[in-house]
Amino acid sequence: MSVFVVNGGRRLSGEVEPQGSKNSALPILAATLLCRGECVLHNCPRLSDVEASLAILRYIGCTARREGSTVIVDTGSVERFEIPSELMHRMRSSIIFLGAMIARFDRVRMSFPGGCELGPRPIDLHLSALREMGVVICEEHGELDCYVSDELHGANITLPIPSVGATENIMIAAALANGTTVISNAAREPEIVDLADFLNSCGARIHGAGESSVVIEGVERLHPTIHAMIPDRIVTATMMSAAAVTGSDITMKGVIPSHLESVFPVFRDSGCEINIKGNTVRIGAPYRLRSPKLIRTMPYPGFPTDAQAPVMSMAAVADGMTVFVENMFLSRYSHVSELCRLGADIRVEGKVAVVDGVKKLLCADVRAQDLRGAAALVVAALCARGQSQISGIEYLERGYEDFELVLSSLGADVKKI
Ligand code: EPZ
Repeated sequence: MSVFVVNGGRRLSGEVEPQGSKNSALPILAATLLCRGECVLHNCPRLSDVEASLAILRYIGCTARREGSTVIVDTGSVERFEIPSELMHRMRSSIIFLGAMIARFDRVRMSFPGGCELGPRPIDLHLSALREMGVVICEEHGELDCYVSDELHGANITLPIPSVGATENIMIAAALANGTTVISNAAREPEIVDLADFLNSCGARIHGAGESSVVIEGVERLHPTIHAMIPDRIVTATMMSAAAVTGSDITMKGVIPSHLESVFPVFRDSGCEINIKGNTVRIGAPYRLRSPKLIRTMPYPGFPTDAQAPVMSMAAVADGMTVFVENMFLSRYSHVSELCRLGADIRVEGKVAVVDGVKKLLCADVRAQDLRGAAALVVAALCARGQSQISGIEYLERGYEDFELVLSSLGADVKKI
């Protein structure tokens, strides 16, 4: 169980480059199963969730190796069509292998992915869409046993919720289905576009990714490719929160600013200066932050739910009151009780959290309970004078590569023990 020891109250300065996107890497690693041969994936972050995906690929017979930030996956000799529950439970988003395994083998057996710290993580939209594409799915004893009865074929699928994972599973399965699939009310996240770019570079025919309607014309086969992941927009938003709460001026390079269009206004409303030049974003924090007033999480291009926790740490020390409305997940406020141990004044009522900004946070020992909540606690500890200890850092390592090194390179006093 790794722990961060943070001596807060220090100003940060310098330049960082955000890691590759975790939420691009996970579906793209699964989608390599659609090709036979060696795919080269650049800007693939070193994360425990990525390792969990590589473990699944190796279990079914692929070889996968890492050379720095590049991962090379050879799917030429896969031979197993089942994923054991211990591998499925290591990472909630392993459901993303469902569409890929069906497209490759016409069958798959896997256990239901567990719920997670964010509450129940239903997969009903994934299953109903694949059934419409000709997949027979038996669900019993927590296991999914799926096979293609006649042929995997295209379908017109309307999602009641623009689910990221369901959109990805459908896109992946439809790439090799017989005929055309149209997804209406598709998720529009940049990671969906990145997945479509990867698949199209393998020979798929996907149009409209990033829009609400995506058309996938199935093809016979896909060939391996070389692909670089987009930068991680949530890690970038987290770094901006760290700069904001420490009164810092930092520069982030290799950013795609258009991915953060709903995030920049929150920092500007808080009194931060944001300068954008090409793929470089510079953030300068004011002496005292103003409260951003109201933050509602929404599907992309709305404010991202994954940035809610780190930005709440910023609101906790802003002047005034901020109301958060978490519309995407039932319980994504596990960081609130721990932020209050650090001196924050936050009350939660259902999906609403009311943050009354305080002048300063106080150091304390706190425990992370989910990925983005862990990031929020690190951000808050950077601002609290004195030494704070954060346990549960294994949650952080699911999505943040070498976070203590990144922060230390900017002058923070953060050690992992
Ligand atoms: C993806 O999760 C991300 N994970 C999440 O990031 C992110 O918070 C989420 O999208 C929303 O943006 C990855 O990309 C690996 P959804 P996903 O399906 O696909 C409901 C992080 O911190 N729903 O868009 O699981 C669901 O319960 C992680 O990096 C159904 O009801 O999210 C939720 O309320 C956390 N039935 C809403 O839709 C379904 O079949 C959005 O979920 C599927 C989803």
